[in-house]
Amino acid sequence: MMSSSAPILKVEGLTRRFGGLVAVNDMGFTVHAGEIVGLLGPNGSGKTTAINLISGVLQPDAGRVVLGDTDIAGWPTFKIARLGVARTFQLVRVLDGMTCGDNVRAGLAFNQRARIESDVSVDGLLARVGLADHNSRPASELTYIDRKRLELARALALRPSVLLLDEWLAGLNPSELQIGIALIRSLKDEGLSILMVEHVMAAIRSLCSRCVVMSSGRRIADGPTDTVLRDPAVIEAYLGAPEHA
Ligand SMILES: Nc1ncnc2c1ncn2[C@@H]1O[C@H](COP(=O)(O)OP(=O)(O)OP(=O)(O)O)[C@@H](O)[C@H]1O
Ligand SMILES: [Mg+2]
Repeated sequence: MMSSSAPILKVEGLTRRFGGLVAVNDMGFTVHAGEIVGLLGPNGSGKTTAINLISGVLQPDAGRVVLGDTDIAGWPTFKIARLGVARTFQLVRVLDGMTCGDNVRAGLAFNQRARIESDVSVDGLLARVGLADHNSRPASELTYIDRKRLELARALALRPSVLLLDEWLAGLNPSELQIGIALIRSLKDEGLSILMVEHVMAAIRSLCSRCVVMSSGRRIADGPTDTVLRDPAVIEAYLGAPEHA
């Protein structure tokens, strides 16, 4: 069972305020080695803020983010990245003025071990996400899904143990979605532990062994995907009215 393996990422009491708004309120959950956990919740419930707190983009007001044995809460992004936590952004971020290869190298530059890696490994990372032979292609020429692939390749350049995806599958058409799901599953099969913010139900059902659900900054459910998606509190949070259940 996945749940009996060691926790690789443990979040406890995580809290972040913006003025009077508690965007993330005493959140706690665990990601075990080699599993995909869905982080769900309606718009504005605090999912991206939680990802920002874990990845060091934002500093928490309280709480612990334990990676392996190390509490990384409040650490700067580059240190967290070096320790093996990589992420993608809700609004895809690639460097348009650069080639695909240089975009990946920008990721490698964070990784001291990888700094000396060759073009071969850049090509390998690009091929890994479906961008074989794209090393010298300008990133500005890429389609939307290929931009998403490139951002993922840059994240993988860190050789992460934990990957944080913020709606990586959003905006893909149905056939691209199947490709994207297969790609994420293949990363898990290679042993990566993944926390994915996602709204696409088909993807959640097919990829996530467990889901954590947020509403107004708080955790309202945590458990096996099937159970969580049938939870009346979760349905109510999404639909805003219990009679839709
Ligand atoms: N930098 C900020 N300053 C002030 N308020 C913020 C900031 N970032 C987020 N918020 C607020 O915190 C709450 C949670 O936002 P967050 O982006 O984490 O939600 P989300 O669950 O990712 O939503 P979505 O599904 O729309 O992406 C929202 O009310 C948002 O307006
Ligand atoms: Mg968000």
